[in-house]
Amino acid sequence: MKAIKLLLLAIFASALAFKEFVKGSKAVDLYNGNERITNGTLAVRGQFPYLVRFRLFGERVSECGGSILSSIWVLTAAHCLPGKLYGDMYFGEIRSKNARFHHRIYNHSFIPHPEYDGKTSHNDAAMIIIPRITFSKYVNKIQLANEAKHANLTGWRAFIAGWGRVSDDPAQSRDLYYTNVTIADDELCEAFYNFQPSQLCVSTVHNQSSCRGDSGGPLTLHKGNFLAGITSYSGPSCMNNAPQVFTRVTKIDAWIRNVMDIAS
Ligand SMILES: *[C@@H]1O[C@H](CO)[C@@H](O)[C@H](O)[C@H]1NC(C)=O
Ligand SMILES: *[C@@H]1O[C@H](CO)[C@@H](O)[C@H](O)[C@H]1NC(C)=O
Ligand SMILES: *[C@@H]1O[C@H](CO)[C@@H](O)[C@H](O)[C@H]1NC(C)=O
Ligand SMILES: *[C@@H]1O[C@H](CO)[C@@H](O)[C@H](O)[C@H]1NC(C)=O
Ligand SMILES: *[C@@H]1O[C@H](CO)[C@@H](O)[C@H](O)[C@H]1NC(C)=O
Repeated sequence: MKAIKLLLLAIFASALAFKEFVKGSKAVDLYNGNERITNGTLAVRGQFPYLVRFRLFGERVSECGGSILSSIWVLTAAHCLPGKLYGDMYFGEIRSKNARFHHRIYNHSFIPHPEYDGKTSHNDAAMIIIPRITFSKYVNKIQLANEAKHANLTGWRAFIAGWGRVSDDPAQSRDLYYTNVTIADDELCEAFYNFQPSQLCVSTVHNQSSCRGDSGGPLTLHKGNFLAGITSYSGPSCMNNAPQVFTRVTKIDAWIRNVMDIAS
């Protein structure tokens, strides 16, 4: 029964994943290219054990981040997936090519949020089912933020991390970077973007920001180490201290839990 449900869901999901993706007019999605967090700090091994990097292949190659939620589920951004046929996912990596292990994943394992809207990036979230992994000091899951404790995160400090651009120049670096940010009121992002209630706004200072290539990666609360956001989009420059937009995990956690119930 579970297997049939999963198969049906996978078929449905891969159909949805391949609807045409249209970029928001004022925003750029934070993916594509070998690019990193701007003005960040080098991460150390085991600091973000739940963070995975993946390369996806279709007409174009793109790179995204994701977060491990269980031994078989990874959460990422929906906008990473359209048009992609397969990919390679790297676990426990802080420098390209030093992953603890990696898995090939195929498009039938992609489950984008059914209400993902490529125009507004509303519900920019997707689940990917992976071959079962074993946890260690370097590869582990992260717990989700919840509505009871985390409905209002204004002023909370959080980490963002990824292998995205280190500046607006596509400078090459093979390392995982992170930075600390503060979660802002929705009004800040509403002034810049077509901001949706399913999103979380983060203010940036000192050019410390996520950038292209960081999409799908985590926004993790310092307090309690909860996953509160998925890197979604920002303005055309990552270094003008414009705010950044993340998918708000507490708005989609019912969907995440439903997907995880299909198989565990
Ligand atoms: C998924 O990938 C396969 C190749 O592995 C391809 O034949 C198929 O068309 C892809 N599915 C979609 C919906 O693009
Ligand atoms: C959210 O928390 C901030 C900071 O504690 C507070 O200023 C604001 O009024 C709260 N917003 C709501 C809607 O409760
Ligand atoms: C980020 O915040 C954490 C937790 O407060 C702290 O330990 C760390 O040193 C900070 N890192 C940077 C680069 O500011
Ligand atoms: C941010 O980066 C830009 C471009 O490199 C630079 O001109 C500016 O001075 C930086 N701003 C801050 C606050 O460091
Ligand atoms: C990077 O951040 C530091 C503060 O941590 C700041 O002093 C510096 O100006 C920033 N550099 C750039 C290029 O923005």
